[in-house]
Amino acid sequence: MFEKLPTPTIFAHRGSSAHAPENTLAAFELAIRQNADAIELDAKLTADGEVVVFHDPTLDRTTDGSGWVSDHTLAELKELDAGCSFDVNFCGERIPTLAEVFEHVGQDTFINIELTNYRALRNTLPEKVASLIKYHHLQDRVFFSSFNPIALMRAFKMLPQIPSGLLALSGFAGAWARSALGRRVPYRALHPALSDVTPRLIHQQHQRGNRVHVYTVNHPDDINRMFDWQIDGIFTDDPLLARRILDGRPAPEAVV
Ligand code: G3P
Ligand code: MG
Repeated sequence: MFEKLPTPTIFAHRGSSAHAPENTLAAFELAIRQNADAIELDAKLTADGEVVVFHDPTLDRTTDGSGWVSDHTLAELKELDAGCSFDVNFCGERIPTLAEVFEHVGQDTFINIELTNYRALRNTLPEKVASLIKYHHLQDRVFFSSFNPIALMRAFKMLPQIPSGLLALSGFAGAWARSALGRRVPYRALHPALSDVTPRLIHQQHQRGNRVHVYTVNHPDDINRMFDWQIDGIFTDDPLLARRILDGRPAPEAVV
């Protein structure tokens, strides 16, 4: 499936989250209008076992609710506003379910589903997400990523044809993911933090047949540097800016 992605791929991180409230349908639809190649979203389980799209473990930063997401039922989460804290023009945006995202934009873009079961490493999130992918027939349009290797292994077991990106924390905390230990996880792309990306790391991953998708790249100098280094993809909050930069660059030299 990664073969279908352009290189470099512009992933809209939590949707077009510089221009719309993160992880909402508004942000995903805007990312598509801004010509992002793919969207990135964060999937997690509610208290009643539904899959919602939400980044933080708690509700406080981006909604008018508070407390742990995983302590709330889907019905409770649907009562909350997920747009006003970004901008009053987005008041009324709701926390979407993964199924709603699939229904609204599943046929229009590629979707990087980050499995964010970081508080409950062995919960059933991977299996629930895999079932939704099958139900919506989106096996050719999605892929997985996670900092949680257990989640990626379980997703691989459910849907081995869908490639995964192994997320690596920056610095020492993510060293294992970038090492031989990380290679025990069935990943086809390394997703390192911007501060850890070097031409050597990209070259090493390419030698192993992997792609490199870097997070989170928002400054024009960093975007240009990543493109200069022939990165395979960037996660950016501002896909409009990244597209303008990419379109303004000279075409890569033809390989003869
Ligand atoms: O997938 C890249 C990025 O989303 C990982 O970090 O915390 O933004 O989900 P985070
Ligand atoms: Mg994420």
